[in-house]
Amino acid sequence: MSKATKYVSKAADENGFIHWTDEENSIWQALIKRQLPLMEGRACDEFILGLEKLNLPLDRVPQLAEVNEVLLATTGWRCEQVPALIGFEKFFQLLSEKKFPVATFIRSKEEFDYLQEPDIFHELFGHCAMLTNPAFAKFTQAYGEIGLAASKEDRVFLARLYWFTVEFGLMKTNDGLRIYGGGILSSPGETKYALEEGTAERRFLTNEEQVVDVLRTPYRIDIMQPIYFMIEKMSDLDAIRNLDLMALVEQAKALGLHKPKFPPKEKIAS
Ligand SMILES: [Fe+2]
Repeated sequence: MSKATKYVSKAADENGFIHWTDEENSIWQALIKRQLPLMEGRACDEFILGLEKLNLPLDRVPQLAEVNEVLLATTGWRCEQVPALIGFEKFFQLLSEKKFPVATFIRSKEEFDYLQEPDIFHELFGHCAMLTNPAFAKFTQAYGEIGLAASKEDRVFLARLYWFTVEFGLMKTNDGLRIYGGGILSSPGETKYALEEGTAERRFLTNEEQVVDVLRTPYRIDIMQPIYFMIEKMSDLDAIRNLDLMALVEQAKALGLHKPKFPPKEKIAS
């Protein structure tokens, strides 16, 4: 969220309308047409239902206003247009106000398969369907409130909870393993990997002890995840939201971080 990026959010006109180019619209089209067929049997039911409600266009980048119409009517959330990178303070503030930050740029053709920055496809396709779900929406808002009040040091711990739920969360349902994390659902490679990869570890996230476990688990943003956490149902997020999360952060701090399951980041030659 605080690193340099080559991307710049596109400004809206006086009517709040963003003029996407034909190339940008064609990138959206290619992304959504590749991703949609993968959702059945992989994304959780709540996500599929949310996608139906959003009814995202296939041939062009959606306008935030049309997504907001659905979010406001379902959970009272809305997307808020932000620059390509925002700080933690702003991020938590927006979530606490039921505003989901959306940078209005779309990845370049060169980065079609993978980019580190969250672009509008990631934000709208990956996250907004879940934001129509009340438990998910309340969890995200509560997370914003807690993060806003937390110290800089504690926010680093809290970021892991967001990462392993909102971004990379799995759900072990009676029908099988499903995805609700937007970081996975906006990536075709990880959509398959997260469910099928034999070497990836999948732990439960359904009680207090396991929340402490999450807070202690380091992650990298630039690799397929070696570890995922599974809730069993959306209301598990209600239970997590109602825990004394800052007390759990204190426990996690006292216990220290788990040893990373990934190799150290290669040193960049300069
Ligand atoms: Fe995200």
